[in-house]
Amino acid sequence: MRLKLTDPTHGVSISGRLELAIELARSAGDVLLDGLESDFTISTKSSPFDLVTDIDRKSQETITSGIHESFPNDGVVAEEEGCTQRANNEWMWVIDPLDGTTNYVHKFPLFCVSIGVMHGDEPVVGVIFNPFLNELYVASKDSGESLNGKPIHVSKNDTITSSMLVTGFPYSKTSPPNNNFYNFVTFMEATRSIRRLGSAALDMAFVACGRLDGFWEVKLRPWDVAAGTVIIREAGGLVTNFVGEHFDIFSRFILASNGLIHDSMIEKLREAAENEYLQRSGQ
Ligand code: IPD
Ligand code: CA
Ligand code: CA
Repeated sequence: MRLKLTDPTHGVSISGRLELAIELARSAGDVLLDGLESDFTISTKSSPFDLVTDIDRKSQETITSGIHESFPNDGVVAEEEGCTQRANNEWMWVIDPLDGTTNYVHKFPLFCVSIGVMHGDEPVVGVIFNPFLNELYVASKDSGESLNGKPIHVSKNDTITSSMLVTGFPYSKTSPPNNNFYNFVTFMEATRSIRRLGSAALDMAFVACGRLDGFWEVKLRPWDVAAGTVIIREAGGLVTNFVGEHFDIFSRFILASNGLIHDSMIEKLREAAENEYLQRSGQ
């Protein structure tokens, strides 16, 4: 359901929130970098593979307290609060305080802070910050996008055979169907190569700046994809569900690309689903 949007200073309100999102992403980035040197605690959540550290929580506290202070009427959906429901506010912040926790635990330098802002149902602000590489991706609806202040654009690769894609796997990877294994094999055969980086937000940022041509994943959460959706769209790419229709950040299946290989990716996802069905039904 689309909310009635009442804010008369809509444009100004987007830029104010963008500014704050950048400031908070940088502060949370400092928390992540400091934490990396510390003796952080590690525990598990939904499965033995689903890790969380005390640094995830510290980073989240830095971000949410900043939002509550500046925009007390805005809704917040943040990973470590465990809330997966849409907030019923006109403005909603969607936060992953540390995307790539498994990488972080292994001190593998691909992790980031991801902050998205929704106006009603529409993602309008996206900020992704990798403090280790000091890469800040920023976008707001209709005002463009940048990486460390320089404009970015999706790649121009228009064939699936010459594409390099990226994906990830759910923590429930041992419980098929929908653990992404069939999709992975199908794309591995069809493309130049596939990367598995361990941070969905950075996967999307890399598609936005043309380092990768496409991304798909299953069973993601809104905080993994909200910011990346704005950044890819503003960089000229496409973000949809697996059949090319409207992508809702609360749905669990995402397909994002430079736009040029989107139809081919949809075709391959359909092929993979058919193969999985035939295999599982013993045909
Ligand atoms: C995970 C990462 C990973 C993806 C997982 C996510 P987390 O987020 O984005 O790339 O494959 O599905 O849950 O747990 O590191 O915030
Ligand atoms: Ca995440
Ligand atoms: Ca996380």
